[in-house]
Amino acid sequence: MSLAAFPDSVHVRAPGKINVYLGVGGRHDDGYHALATVFQAVSLYEDVTAYPADDFSLSVFGTDAASTALFADTVPLDDRNLAMRAAKLVASETGYSGGVHLEVRKSVPVAGGMGGGSADAAAALVACDALWETGLSPQQLDELAGRLGADVPFALHGGTAIGTGRGDRLNPALARGRFDWVLVTSDEGLSTPAIYAGLDDHRARNGALADDPPLSLDVPIPVLQALRAGDPHALALCMHNDLGTPALLERPVLDDIINEGLEAGALSGIVSGSGPTVAFLCDAPESAQYVQSDLTARGRTAVHVHGAVPGARIIAR
Ligand code: C5P
Repeated sequence: MSLAAFPDSVHVRAPGKINVYLGVGGRHDDGYHALATVFQAVSLYEDVTAYPADDFSLSVFGTDAASTALFADTVPLDDRNLAMRAAKLVASETGYSGGVHLEVRKSVPVAGGMGGGSADAAAALVACDALWETGLSPQQLDELAGRLGADVPFALHGGTAIGTGRGDRLNPALARGRFDWVLVTSDEGLSTPAIYAGLDDHRARNGALADDPPLSLDVPIPVLQALRAGDPHALALCMHNDLGTPALLERPVLDDIINEGLEAGALSGIVSGSGPTVAFLCDAPESAQYVQSDLTARGRTAVHVHGAVPGARIIAR
C-alpha cells in the first residue's frame, strides 16, 4: 500500500473511570491483588491524536496553560508513558516498521485514581491501529490492552463493567439511565502501588484479613441491583472502596473533602480507585451542579460529569 493511502492523522477519545465499588483481596505472587470492582466510564476524556512519523514521540497538553505546565513536570514522554508503550506494542505485534507522533490532550487528572494513563493507552492502541491500517481485531486489541495494565481493557470498552481477577477480567454490568457525579480532583497525585501497599500494612497492623485474605472476590449483589435499577439512592448506600482507608491515611484532607460534599447534598462520596480523586454521587443533574458550585466556592477543584459513556472511539481521521 502506498503511503498516500494512509490517513494524515487519527483522533481517538477515551474516558476516565471511577470505581463505584472496589473490593481488594489478597496479594497474588505476581504482586497484584485480587479485586472485585465495578467501573463506570465518565464524561471526562483523554484525546489522543496519532500523526505519521518515522520514529516514536509524544507531546502532552492540558486544558489550559497551567495544567499543560503541570503535565510537563509530571508526565513522562518516554517508554514509561503507557501511551508510548501501547504504540510500540502495536508496531511490534503487527510488524509495522514506521513510527508515530502521539499528541495527548489530558482532562483526566494525572495519578488521580481515574485511569487517565490507561485511557491514553487504550486511545493510542486504537489510534495507531487505524493510522497504520494494521487491522487488529477487537479481541487482539483486548489482549494487547490487558498486557499494558489492569485498567486498559476497561478504557477500550467503557460503559459500566464488573472487573475481577486483577481488575482486568471484564464483564459488562447492566446499568440503566444516567448517574451524575461530582469529582474533586487534586493537583498532586497518589502512587497506586503505594496505596495498595498501604492497605496491606493497615490490614497487617489491624489483623483484618491479614492471615487469609481471599484470592477470589465478588461484587455485592445490591451494587449490581442499584445499577440495573438506575437508582442513585440505592447505589449510594452500597458504594465502597477498600483503598479509601489507605488513601485517607496518606492524604487526610480527603476526609474533609468527603464531608464537604455530603454537607452540600451529595448522596455519597468515595475515593475513586487509589485516589486522590473523590467521587460524589448525586441524585440529579441539578443537585450535582449545586454540589459542584458549593465545593468550588470552598476552593476545591470540582467538575460535574455523568456516566456511563462509551470507551475509546475514533472521533476523526
Ligand atoms: O496495572 P497497573 O499498572 O494499573 O497497576 C499499578 C500497580 O497497582 C501495580 O504495580 C500494583 O502495585 C497495584 N495493583 C495491585 N493489584 C491490582 C492492580 C494494581 O496491587 N489488581
